[in-house]
Amino acid sequence: MSAERPKPATLAVWGGETSHEPYERATQVPVVHSVSFGYHDIDTWQAVALGREPGHIYSRNTNPTVRAFEEKVRDLEEAEAATSFASGMAAISAVLFAFLRPGDRVVSIKDSYGGTHKLFTEFLPAFGIEAHLCDTSDFGQLETEIARGCRMLYLESPTNPTVKIVDIARLARAAHAVGARVVVDNTFATPINQRPLALGADLVLHSATKFLGGHADALGGVACGGREAIQTLYHYREITGAALSPMDAYSLLRGMKTLALRIERQNATALTIARWLTRHSAIEHVNYPGLTTHAHHEVAARQMRGFGGVLSFSVRGGLAAIKEFLPRLRYAHRAANLGCVETVVGPPAVTSHVECTAEERAAAGIPEGLVRYSAGIEDPDDLIADLEQALAAL
Ligand SMILES: Cc1ncc(COP(=O)(O)O)c(C=O)c1O
Repeated sequence: MSAERPKPATLAVWGGETSHEPYERATQVPVVHSVSFGYHDIDTWQAVALGREPGHIYSRNTNPTVRAFEEKVRDLEEAEAATSFASGMAAISAVLFAFLRPGDRVVSIKDSYGGTHKLFTEFLPAFGIEAHLCDTSDFGQLETEIARGCRMLYLESPTNPTVKIVDIARLARAAHAVGARVVVDNTFATPINQRPLALGADLVLHSATKFLGGHADALGGVACGGREAIQTLYHYREITGAALSPMDAYSLLRGMKTLALRIERQNATALTIARWLTRHSAIEHVNYPGLTTHAHHEVAARQMRGFGGVLSFSVRGGLAAIKEFLPRLRYAHRAANLGCVETVVGPPAVTSHVECTAEERAAAGIPEGLVRYSAGIEDPDDLIADLEQALAAL
């Protein structure tokens, strides 16, 4: 047998699966709902509580099912350590509040996920933390702001919903030159398409709710990185309490076994659909990093193994046309989600950027007539036929 590191498809299936204590010879990770773990021997109890011996004490801190999920993601991201959260937003807010202090400055991009944007503009300033948000596509401006000094560089690539690409390696170099921590939200790419830690990031985050779980039936978040930083985040989470539930951890674990298969199909389908849409007369503009016309296609080709399952496009006629077109789709949920086995569509005004005002969306370059399209694992021919009949009526 080769001693080489297993490939991502193998890690998606086997990663983390061996870390639990075998229970009654079960081949699948058991869902341990127990909140507490009991000890006859007080010395052992104390040793586990102090972290001197392996084991679990209380499920807000650690839990066997949750631990298996963390280990699977850690394996896939090739990180030293990982810790989980009740949602993607819990992971993101933990990273910001555990590492930033009053007077600190964080540099980020204008196109981050709507909830993240709210943390930057509404919550961090209340604690005396400045978030400087740069034009996502202007790497020079980002470098200039980083060089002015910052505690953290916070990136997302591809972005939600305009699927812009940021050059992670280039910006990580700039951030490390001023001693800043580099954080990347890898939700849209997944570790199958992109590994930010290998590109120079210090921490990688996911809304596991999306592609990792893949079935829109479990909320979760996860952060991976160096042991020390993850210990800080773990401590923040055990005290603030946004713990991932064992049942959700199980659903995410089961979903992740097919991660590589799903992502390969979704990459291929999204590219096919993006190319098809560019030739359709009802479509104004298509955003997808796999298109050679995308502003940062070359950066995407360098730092990603696939271009992801999400694209966005504007339909001629704006919001009124979208209101006609979206209800006609047969094979798509009209919902505020993405990354699932079913195709999901929605305007950012009611999905990723519902928390923002129309002015904020306009400032972020999100037209009210944009559609975010998250390709599912259906047959691409059926998805294209569906789009064709829905667009024909416009
Ligand atoms: C890129 C990105 N990050 C974070 C989140 C937040 O994740 P959650 O809904 O799991 O809190 C989302 C949700 O859509 C997202 O798209």
